[in-house]
Amino acid sequence: MTDLQETGPSVPRPDKSKVRVAVVFGGRSGEHTISCATAAGVLSAIDRDRYEVLPVGITPEGRWVLVEDDPAALELSDSRPPVQITTDGLGQGALSAPLGGGELTVLGPTGPRVLGQIDVVLPLLHGPYGEDGTIQGMLEMMGVSYVGCGVLASAAGMDKQVTKVLLGAAGIATAPHVVVGPHAWKRDPEVILDACRSLSYPLFVKPARAGSSLGISKVERPEDLPGAIEAARAIDPKVLVESGIVGREVEVAVLEGRGDDAPRVAEPGEIAMDASHGAGEFYDFETKYLAHDAVAMVCPARIGPEERALIMDTAARAFEAVGCEGLARVDFFLTEAGEAVVNEINTMPGFTPFSMYPYMWQVSGLGYTDLVSELIELALVRSTDVNR
Ligand SMILES: Nc1ncnc2c1ncn2[C@@H]1O[C@H](COP(=O)(O)OP(=O)(O)O)[C@@H](O)[C@H]1O
Ligand SMILES: [Mg+2]
Repeated sequence: MTDLQETGPSVPRPDKSKVRVAVVFGGRSGEHTISCATAAGVLSAIDRDRYEVLPVGITPEGRWVLVEDDPAALELSDSRPPVQITTDGLGQGALSAPLGGGELTVLGPTGPRVLGQIDVVLPLLHGPYGEDGTIQGMLEMMGVSYVGCGVLASAAGMDKQVTKVLLGAAGIATAPHVVVGPHAWKRDPEVILDACRSLSYPLFVKPARAGSSLGISKVERPEDLPGAIEAARAIDPKVLVESGIVGREVEVAVLEGRGDDAPRVAEPGEIAMDASHGAGEFYDFETKYLAHDAVAMVCPARIGPEERALIMDTAARAFEAVGCEGLARVDFFLTEAGEAVVNEINTMPGFTPFSMYPYMWQVSGLGYTDLVSELIELALVRSTDVNR
């Protein structure tokens, strides 16, 4: 740890023995508000005896601001408009980061304040410009330690097509699919629609790089396919069309091992949807975030010992096949025949205290506060060499 710079009015550093953590959230993706809710959970629970916390919000336009350390202001609530980081609302001043030094400066109403060196960044960002290797690359360039997957695994995990390629190479099953490239669709949609005839209905049409079920449709009839592709293209010009997999949705929380240890895998959990309480046709945005009674996170998942072992082993292999670090949630369809098909890998899974990833760890004996500490410790002990 380094001291604050002497120049300029600086932010006081009350206890220099504490690790200084910049918690970064909000951001430029469609999951801005969810990220703020995650930050609310982490700010409430992080071990303040060990860590000094700097809450850093990123506005939807991409401006970095130091924000009030106030979890209640960031929580998800039905009774107010979605939380958004702005430079004049929650913001206390714009952040600037001189490259290479690992330091942050706040440009506030009273002029620049030097925040100084930060020991580790906890990027609680979902989706593009956060979970996709971009902020990870920036932090690598700055020489700052950060929690979670590196550049390649983040970028690969964000892109559902690239994930399939890596998993397929490792012998791990994913849903059959057709890629709708941005130019190919414009050039000749018939070629793509023709290729999709090899898939089995219902189809799932999804943006290659999104999350929170944004832009995803379930398609029952061929005539609805072009519209679904256009809807997904509005989120990402690269789209996947997948065969629908009939199976239960089982999710697995993976945590990097210490040193050369194998990845740690929590007790698998299951997403149980209840249509009579308003669950949608699939795990869509409303079911995920708004229809509170429609979906239950069941952990341990109600699966037999063989399926449990298969799913946990496959999750650990998927974690390593994609080159994950820190954490990832590996999501499966478990078919009637007992096959474990990976749907996707989330390198920054939902992380509110009510989210599946922390819940599965809690059931497995690692509570939320300790989980956050373990993630920070994993980041601190890992090398900052880009080829670690
Ligand atoms: N191939 C598929 N077969 C069956 N259901 C699917 C398929 N793909 C997606 N779904 C449904 O859509 C939901 C969201 O899709 P997913 O690929 O996980 O996107 P996101 O990254 O937005 O969570 C899944 O949880 C599942 O309910
Ligand atoms: Mg998903």
